Amino acid sequence: MKKIAVLTSGGDAPGMNACIRAVVRTAIFKDLEIFGISYGYDGMIKGSIKRMHSHSVSNIIQRGGTILKSARSEEFRTKEGRLKAYQQLKQLEIEGLVVIGGDGTFTGAKIFFEEFGIPVIGCPGTIDNDIYGTDFTIGFDTAVNTALEAIDKIRDTAAAHDRIFFVEVMGRDSGYIAVECGIGGGAEFVMVPETRTDIKKVVKSLKNLRKSKSSSIIVVAEGDDEGSADQIMNTVKSKIQDEFKEFKVTTLGHIQRGGNPTARDRVLASRCGMAAVEGLMAGESNCMAGVMSGNVVYTPFDDCISKTKAIHQDHLKLIEILSI
Ligand code: F6P
Repeated sequence: MKKIAVLTSGGDAPGMNACIRAVVRTAIFKDLEIFGISYGYDGMIKGSIKRMHSHSVSNIIQRGGTILKSARSEEFRTKEGRLKAYQQLKQLEIEGLVVIGGDGTFTGAKIFFEEFGIPVIGCPGTIDNDIYGTDFTIGFDTAVNTALEAIDKIRDTAAAHDRIFFVEVMGRDSGYIAVECGIGGGAEFVMVPETRTDIKKVVKSLKNLRKSKSSSIIVVAEGDDEGSADQIMNTVKSKIQDEFKEFKVTTLGHIQRGGNPTARDRVLASRCGMAAVEGLMAGESNCMAGVMSGNVVYTPFDDCISKTKAIHQDHLKLIEILSI
């Protein structure tokens, strides 16, 4: 293998730049030619592919976003689109690919490998932490800390006005961010897509808590079955309006996707990036390089996509116990 390429795809995550840097510098260290593909699979189809050098990734380890840009590609979902992408790689004699992203990115990579046989290794880049085969995903730690900082601030104003705040955090299908910033922020409740929350129980507990607390924080993952934080707030409010002064909703949104990556995310990203290049050179493919229990692990894309990394039920219990 002499030439490889790297791309970022799907929702960006803090630490993607650190991962790109690791891929580029490991490749150069191993005497490979390395190319950067802009705008994910869309860029691969259009041929937005440029040679990268060591200096191309200078001064980016600390930056959020992705210098390679990111996109969700509809065209890559079609066979014709993937054929165009393959032809672009073939023209440049690129023989291996590193894709940094989440499960959608890996699904595309798996199909592409199966159709054209180009070795592909993934690095887990998503703030949602919902990828099987790695304890944590790149960007998760930063996103949790961003949300936590916001919750700390919200708690100050909630306490000052005796209010109940519903704070909506990201996590389309996953409650990892909600659970971690719920524990760290001392939330009274956390509502996640993985577990159905009994609204009656929330109302009952809030009434009980009223005796000892004048304000409360409820963290809601955006994908919760009961609806958005706004809808949940309205349901709860209709049942206990008289007992609390006011109810407020704060949606943290894309603020969680940006910012300087934490040390944890930079280290994880650097390790996964290096492992991806080393894996390609050692003949690994159609898999993701992640870190489990401190060790680099290659997990088949099939497992990353189909298996669920369940949230710890004891973490939800912890929140319940510590909120009394
Ligand atoms: O996949 C990560 C994520 O942050 C989800 O939690 C969220 O639903 C989604 O991206 C939103 O992404 P976008 O606004 O880029 O479509």
